[in-house]
Amino acid sequence: MAQQTVDIGDHFHKHSNAYQEVVSGINRELYQNVRKELEKYLHGRILDIGNGNVFNYDLNKLEEVIAVDVAFRDMKDTQKIKYFCGDARNLHMVKDNSCDYVVMQFLVHHIVEPSKKMTDNSMTQTLLECRRVLKPGSQLIIVEMLVSPFVEFIEELLYSLNYQLLTWIKKPMIKFYSRLGILSRLSKVNLILSNDFKISMGKWIDPFEALFPGKVKLPRFLYPAECQFIISEKPAH
Ligand SMILES: C[S@@+](CC[C@H](N)C(=O)[O-])C[C@H]1O[C@@H](n2cnc3c(N)ncnc32)[C@H](O)[C@@H]1O
Repeated sequence: MAQQTVDIGDHFHKHSNAYQEVVSGINRELYQNVRKELEKYLHGRILDIGNGNVFNYDLNKLEEVIAVDVAFRDMKDTQKIKYFCGDARNLHMVKDNSCDYVVMQFLVHHIVEPSKKMTDNSMTQTLLECRRVLKPGSQLIIVEMLVSPFVEFIEELLYSLNYQLLTWIKKPMIKFYSRLGILSRLSKVNLILSNDFKISMGKWIDPFEALFPGKVKLPRFLYPAECQFIISEKPAH
């Protein structure tokens, strides 16, 4: 696993207050709509990767949540929540076949490396880790902003330039996928698609929630991505 030049954990730690304000402010409608869907599924023992201290579901209905994030510093466990400062690509703190659900809400576009090829390897490694910790027959839920295949193609063409530009302004790299881009990667690690659908995003959106939280408010119709819920399953045998 290569290190990004800009430390994403430090970045999110530094901006965590502004980030939380966006989650409960400009992007509130989006999060409420995601929450309604998450609550239809989640039960038992959950692993929430890239959690960012955003629990977008009713904790009372769950047995335990393992919250993992590279930006966690000095988090105190509660009866329900176990916090780990850790990386999605190496979930050594979670046992094999131990989770009823794995959730990655707005994490996937942050699994990035200095090159596209290395990013591909990191995504595969992350999905393999999700598969390893899921109980057989249990599900991975990815909530993600997805772009069209054309936008994804251009993004991949300009990967290196984009990386250098963001590094120059001291911001972490991001890489958005198309629906097919995600589905093909799930199928590569034998996670079987069981359902996927769009989530309504509301009238307004902060398009730079992660990079410059709270600085821009865009009407939804100008935003070039769609929020998608993707559920895949670890085969029972
Ligand atoms: C856009 S935020 C999403 C936070 C929260 N899940 C939400 O829905 O608002 C992305 C989070 O993923 C974390 N993160 C980024 N890369 C990570 C990685 N490789 N492993 C674990 N967490 C990561 C960041 O620190 C940040 O808290």
